[in-house]
Amino acid sequence: MNEEAGLRADELVRQRVVAALDFDTIEEAVALVDLLQDRVTRFKVGMRLFTRYGPAILDALAEREAQVFLDLKFHDIPSVVADACAAAAAHPSVFMLTVHASGGQAMMRHAARGAKRGRPDSPPLVVAVTALTSLKSRELPSFGVGMGVRDWAEKLGALALKSGVDGVVCSAHEAEGLRTEVGARPVLVTPGIRLEDVHIAGDDQARTMTPGRAMAAGSSYLVIGRPIYQSPDPIAAVDAVSASVASWLEKIR
Ligand code: C5P
Repeated sequence: MNEEAGLRADELVRQRVVAALDFDTIEEAVALVDLLQDRVTRFKVGMRLFTRYGPAILDALAEREAQVFLDLKFHDIPSVVADACAAAAAHPSVFMLTVHASGGQAMMRHAARGAKRGRPDSPPLVVAVTALTSLKSRELPSFGVGMGVRDWAEKLGALALKSGVDGVVCSAHEAEGLRTEVGARPVLVTPGIRLEDVHIAGDDQARTMTPGRAMAAGSSYLVIGRPIYQSPDPIAAVDAVSASVASWLEKIR
């Protein structure tokens, strides 16, 4: 039996859903954190908020005991990335951070080491972004990649998992196959989660999945942005996420 089967849907949401704070202001970000405090404990801070506020945004979230996924997608020479990961890890609210797998094996190895140096007793998870979901296969030859996006993402994912990082960011569709291939340990982080019947205006996510199906596919953390923060009622949106997870739990019990 899956270990998840013993948990309630709302507990799983608290542990495994990461609500993206894709806002321009700290006020909007903390307002969502405060609103969802009983339901969601993990939040994603990306380059948009971090570039404006720096560690002050992490301090504001730490005050609220939020766990932060710091999604700054580091990509530089190994020593610089190692120091950046150490600096990120030194902030106790950061439980996970991203690097680009295309930075190569040495860069990822240094990223993992840097995170451990920054917080030796409980380092944050380091996960590698493979191919950006916005990339199209026809663009790849222009930077010398002679394969389709999916093959390239799989190649980068395999490289990442050999390089000492904890896992990869991928669509829930890729998670399904990857989980079978790589076993239970690697962390699979999946954006592109959508609720049935909820339309997102101008949606740029192509390979989407519902929360319950993403859990079934083996996703470790579900990153959910617009379905929650653009909802007229974000609490109801999180409850709909719980309901989707509950329907999967019923199937596996
Ligand atoms: O699409 P949604 O608003 O749920 O986005 C959740 C996260 O997914 C965003 O914070 C962004 O980092 C990521 N994203 C992505 N590819 C896109 C759009 C967003 O990976 N095309």
